[in-house]
Amino acid sequence: MTDLNYSEKVMDHFLHPRNVGEIPDASGIGNIGNPVCGDVMRMYIKVENDLIVDAKFKTFGCGAAISTSSMVTEMVKGKSIEEALLITNKAVAEALGGLPAVKLHCSVLAEQALKAALADYYRRNGRDPSAFEPKLETH
Ligand code: FES
Repeated sequence: MTDLNYSEKVMDHFLHPRNVGEIPDASGIGNIGNPVCGDVMRMYIKVENDLIVDAKFKTFGCGAAISTSSMVTEMVKGKSIEEALLITNKAVAEALGGLPAVKLHCSVLAEQALKAALADYYRRNGRDPSAFEPKLETH
C-alpha cells in the first residue's frame, strides 16, 4: 500500500475511519457505486433547520474510498445544505493531503455519495435535486 504513497491522513482515515455506521432516522440517504471498480458507498445525513447535524457512511470498497468517505462525513457536519453542495472531490482529496492519481476516482465517489444523500433529502422535502443529482446511483 505504501507503494502508492498514501498520505498520513489517508492512512489515518483508512485505519481509523470516522462516522462509520447508519443513521436510523436519516433525513437523506445516498447510494453510489462505481461500475468500473465495483466499490459502493452509502451515505446518511441528518438535517435540522437546514444544517447537517450528523453524517455517517458504510463503504464497501478500497482504502481510498473508506478514507474519502470518512473525510467527507467530517467535512459536512455543521454545514448548511448550500455549503455542503459546494464540497468537491478535489476538496476532499486536498483535506486528506492528496491522493495518488489512480485513486482520485475514489474521492469522486465520496462527493457523489454526499450529493446523492442531499438529493434524497431534497426529494423527501418536495424540492427538485436535478441540478446536482449524481448519475451513478445504485439501489
Ligand atoms: Fe474504486 Fe477506490 S478503487 S472507489
